[in-house]
Amino acid sequence: MQIFGVDIGGSGIKGAPVDLDRGDLAEPRHKVLTPQPATPESVADCVKEVVDHFGWSGPVGVTFPGVVTGHSTIRTAANVSKDWVDMDARALLGERLGGAPVTVLNDADAAGVAEMHFGVGKGREGTVILLTLGTGIGSALFIDGRLVPNTELGHLELHGHDAEKRASTKARDDEQLSWEHWAHRVQKYLAHVEMLFSPELFIIGGGVSRKAQKFLPLIEGIRAEIVPAELLNNAGIVGAAMAASQEAGVRG
Ligand code: BGC
Repeated sequence: MQIFGVDIGGSGIKGAPVDLDRGDLAEPRHKVLTPQPATPESVADCVKEVVDHFGWSGPVGVTFPGVVTGHSTIRTAANVSKDWVDMDARALLGERLGGAPVTVLNDADAAGVAEMHFGVGKGREGTVILLTLGTGIGSALFIDGRLVPNTELGHLELHGHDAEKRASTKARDDEQLSWEHWAHRVQKYLAHVEMLFSPELFIIGGGVSRKAQKFLPLIEGIRAEIVPAELLNNAGIVGAAMAASQEAGVRG
């Protein structure tokens, strides 16, 4: 069974049909650059371009980098245009895609769902937290494999700052931090999240998880196990397709 997944990110909008049995892309993904400003209209055009690239018709799952309620309505937009706030993204994208059923969910929640099903979180009970360290910091909280959506732990306050402004990959790039310096900030952030939730496992996702060996060994004093995500950059696309298939009732 295949369903289409699209991941809307701060820098790129990428998508592909997903093989839901394997939890992997059925074809190499297509990516377009996120328009600046990333307004609803301009992003919807890009989503259409990505979907049309494959001549896809049928259900589409879409991730969004903000709070999404009811698989439809955008509530926050930290790193894209504020015009998204309170927008019915399901209606906008569905109309742009010629009436296709559209399911929208938070990007980190999508990545987490995919990792818990097909990646390093598979079969893990208890409290598991996936954190994506990218343009912002996204979070997905699982209790015995069940998602608590829209946790937004990237916006916890850390030493008087929004945590994602200190410990995201963007902060590392913008401030040209060494791996040691940045790892120290990530460690402080993980300690804070651990103090609040005492998870058994942290899964570190986002593009930087490919370079996990450069910073994970530098992190000390965290009780929980810390592992890099396995699905890397495709987790969002896979998780979006999984959410769409569940909504379409195609599979449980
Ligand atoms: C947003 C989250 C999102 C994360 C990663 C944060 O700024 O508030 O909703 O998951 O960035 O994109």
